[in-house]
Amino acid sequence: MTRASGGGTIADNAIEMVNLTKTFAAPRGIADLVHRRTAAGGVTPVDGVDLAVEEGEVFGLLGPNGAGKTTLIKILCTLVLPTAGAAKVNGYDVVKESGRVRESIGLVTTDERSFYWRLTGRQNLEFFGSLHNFSTDDGREMVEELLGVVDLKDAADVRFLNYSAGMKQRMAIARGLLNDPAVLFMDEPTRSLDPGAAESLRDFIRKEIVGSRGKTIFISTHNLAEAEELCGRVAIFDEGKIKVIGSPNELKASLGDGSKLSDVFLHYTGKRFEERGRAGAGATAPGFRPDRRGFPHRGGGLGRRRGGV
Ligand SMILES: Nc1ncnc2c1ncn2[C@@H]1O[C@H](COP(=O)(O)OP(=O)(O)OP(=O)(O)O)[C@@H](O)[C@H]1O
Ligand SMILES: [Mg+2]
Repeated sequence: MTRASGGGTIADNAIEMVNLTKTFAAPRGIADLVHRRTAAGGVTPVDGVDLAVEEGEVFGLLGPNGAGKTTLIKILCTLVLPTAGAAKVNGYDVVKESGRVRESIGLVTTDERSFYWRLTGRQNLEFFGSLHNFSTDDGREMVEELLGVVDLKDAADVRFLNYSAGMKQRMAIARGLLNDPAVLFMDEPTRSLDPGAAESLRDFIRKEIVGSRGKTIFISTHNLAEAEELCGRVAIFDEGKIKVIGSPNELKASLGDGSKLSDVFLHYTGKRFEERGRAGAGATAPGFRPDRRGFPHRGGGLGRRRGGV
């Protein structure tokens, strides 16, 4: 497969990083300001990371709260500058060729606030599509295609505020695919979903995004089942460092028969893995009770909306 390259050295790697490091300085107190000195302390959520992800891989970053997952993804998406080291995405340097990187990637987060809640799903996608400089016709065509891909055609003219948590996440995925990116970054895409909606979204990612579209996916997760179900390889990531990399089966087998991924996590980090609590409670929009696929129930769904939504 040929890929436009900005001079990348390893042609088949979609993502590569060498000694990638980010340190956030501690905020300066009054005494530091008076004495014009930097504050003591600071955190290093990405600490000398070396990693290569091949084209077409589904790669998972599995780590606890505060491990540095979001910071690493933000560096790769050019939203945060590294303090040291280097990274390339699709062959482009994340610092020197940040525009090229941005053109060739999509980012899916759980930040619902970044959508316009009073606009419909279709209007939201048309707006974000316009930021990619599509012609009006091309933009509309892409939006219609993606509404179909994420199975939101029937709800395309419903306001975003009336979507269930699962529908909002599908919208986030559609937005991440607007520029047909070679690499899709996903920062805990099922974080705000209840177990049923999360399972349905994983199914959808596996079939549509990986199966049909063949994207390279770099996904952070706090969910062991998600890592096992979706990822060809995972990195166990803690305190800014990769502790071990391998396929979920390889990692489990390395500890002996009957080992689970949680045992692997404990072995390499010395920490017991705690699944994130259900953040989905209350994430559902008023008037909607999503079913297992993240869609509203017939009786309490689209027909019950008020105020001309
Ligand atoms: N802009 C910032 N300024 C200062 N510190 C930051 C900043 N962003 C992140 N940090 C710190 O970096 C560390 C790692 O944060 P990060 O959000 O990358 O972790 P994470 O693995 O994504 O955690 P979570 O599972 O909670 O999302 C935390 O200690 C956090 O407080
Ligand atoms: Mg995070």
